Amino acid sequence: MTATGSEPQTGSTPVLDQGAPLLRAANVTAGYLPGVNILDGCNLDLYPGELIGIIGPNGAGKSTLLKALFGLVQVRSGEVVLEGEDITHLKPNALVRRGVGFVPQTNNVFPTLSIEENMQMGLFLRPKRFTERFAFIAELFPTLADRRKQRAGSLSGGERQMVAMARALMMEPSVLLLDEPSAGLSPVRQDETFIRTRRINKAGVSVVMVEQNARRCLQICDRGYVLDQGRNAYTGTGRELMNDPKIIELYLGTLATDVEDAAHQRKP
Ligand SMILES: Nc1ncnc2c1ncn2[C@@H]1O[C@H](COP(=O)(O)OP(=O)(O)O)[C@@H](O)[C@H]1O
Ligand SMILES: [Mg+2]
Repeated sequence: MTATGSEPQTGSTPVLDQGAPLLRAANVTAGYLPGVNILDGCNLDLYPGELIGIIGPNGAGKSTLLKALFGLVQVRSGEVVLEGEDITHLKPNALVRRGVGFVPQTNNVFPTLSIEENMQMGLFLRPKRFTERFAFIAELFPTLADRRKQRAGSLSGGERQMVAMARALMMEPSVLLLDEPSAGLSPVRQDETFIRTRRINKAGVSVVMVEQNARRCLQICDRGYVLDQGRNAYTGTGRELMNDPKIIELYLGTLATDVEDAAHQRKP
């Protein structure tokens, strides 16, 4: 244990709910090219009701981990477990049926389709529930309901990100996997995205969020994982990680300096 309580190379403790994890990755190895493992023994536990954040340098394997959880990259060893059942080798379609939603970082909407049609695509496995699910979405994202006939391709980056999240939520997932939802957005839109993610979580969806905006991510998540070179480097509550000098030095350094500089400049 470090002084502030974030733990290097450990499992994890639930912050909210006790009991079995909803989703678990245990010693997962995976990669793209034969003989090259990008994930090299990754562990992750998501407990019911949690919002967890995954941060780490570029190329650490964060997106690969989400893809491994969602059946988009083959797991070579280790296992992925959802509600006690082994889902390691299931395809994305089967996982969507079991309540897993995934929002990739890019290409996550159908640009030529309207907002409403994007929502229909999200629910193509259960079209009869459209009205009920769209009502849920409209409550979370009133803007989308107001502009339901507008083409997704004509929306701003922040709005498209909203459509992508809403589309994944149409299937009423118990777990939502988000890959860098704030990437490429202006600071204001980034902030809205974090608030929205928290709201989705409060509405009962457990969330795994990968983020480049590490500090902001740690502020809103219950627990965080630092991934480095395909392995868990540190884990702890968001607050523990954010205040750990080692994490600041290794993973939040640039940002910390930026913040200090900004504070310095504000002084008269
Ligand atoms: N489709 C792919 N084929 C081969 N290598 C890939 C592919 N996608 C990612 N990689 C490699 O895997 C490593 C981890 O990538 P990624 O999971 O995208 O990292 P992160 O999301 O943490 O930035 C990188 O070295 C990247 O070049
Ligand atoms: Mg990535």
